[in-house]
Amino acid sequence: MQEIKAKIDAAASLGELEAVRLELFGKKGIITQLFAELKSAAPEQKKELAVSANEKRDYFSELIATKKASLEAAEQKEAMKNEAIDVTLFNENVSCGALHPVMETMDKIIDYFIAQNFSVESGPLIEDDFHNFEALNLPKYHPARDMQDTFYLNDGRLLRTHTSGVQIRTMEKFKAPPVRMIAPGAVFRRDMDLTHTPMFHQVEGLVVEQGDRVSFANLKYVLEEFLRYMFGDVKVRFRPSFFPFTEPSTEVDISCIFCHGEGCRVCKQTGWLEVLGSGVVDPNVFKAVGWKNVSGYAFGLGVERFAMLLHGIPDLRSLFEGDIRLLEQFK
Ligand code: PHE
Repeated sequence: MQEIKAKIDAAASLGELEAVRLELFGKKGIITQLFAELKSAAPEQKKELAVSANEKRDYFSELIATKKASLEAAEQKEAMKNEAIDVTLFNENVSCGALHPVMETMDKIIDYFIAQNFSVESGPLIEDDFHNFEALNLPKYHPARDMQDTFYLNDGRLLRTHTSGVQIRTMEKFKAPPVRMIAPGAVFRRDMDLTHTPMFHQVEGLVVEQGDRVSFANLKYVLEEFLRYMFGDVKVRFRPSFFPFTEPSTEVDISCIFCHGEGCRVCKQTGWLEVLGSGVVDPNVFKAVGWKNVSGYAFGLGVERFAMLLHGIPDLRSLFEGDIRLLEQFK
């Protein structure tokens, strides 16, 4: 019995302890045996033997239970130690996606104009001649159509070459002023070099009010504020230009954000970067939608150009190659 007690004390695991328990209480265990012998014992010895067997049973049961509890506690402590994690450690680098720089730039532009109370409008990518050209004061055979290399469909429709067609669609939808909208989206032109891709994105803007409430001065203020929001503290310059659907028309430049106007490769030594087309809406455009006694201004910008300037990306085409090494830099 002394020997058994020593074994219990020495048990180093729950498994070892269970083995000792079976030695005592198993089918052929020592204690089980004691109780079995009781049955065949002489009546005068029975009581004494029974008391002794009960005492041993209780003594060892208690011993095993105590040992079991302490082994379990030790095992749990060990497990806690092994499975512990340091929640203050930084996680390993998990690969996760991010907005494409063009979409990120587009979102930034949209957010700005939404905050200025502009609605966000859209039109179809496959457009008809009327909305893309005719209603924008670009009649058939007008030489200005050559400014845009158009993809035509066999049925005479075309892939829209700019978002300006949404100006027309929005006025048709609103039926009367006021209009205060932007129209972001993809446009298509037959062009492919360092600064041109056959698909790119524009954000159009159009503001129309009753009477002569809207003037070039409003356009100038709105665009200056917008460009400083996008590019920081830049100078803004309005340069006379031509678009058939605006009169007067201007292209808008900002002082070069790379050389601050000193002259560098990006601004081709001019100190200026062209970022927008804009102007006062030509009366012929209002005529096309049957609006009278209204005034408005419009602008259009290339989102890729903005993204390239904001991120210093030299080749426009790299924005569409899907090269993970480029995209990962915009997380
Ligand atoms: N649609 C012109 C372009 O694609 C930009 C523009 C929009 C100019 C609105 C003036 C007014 O170049």
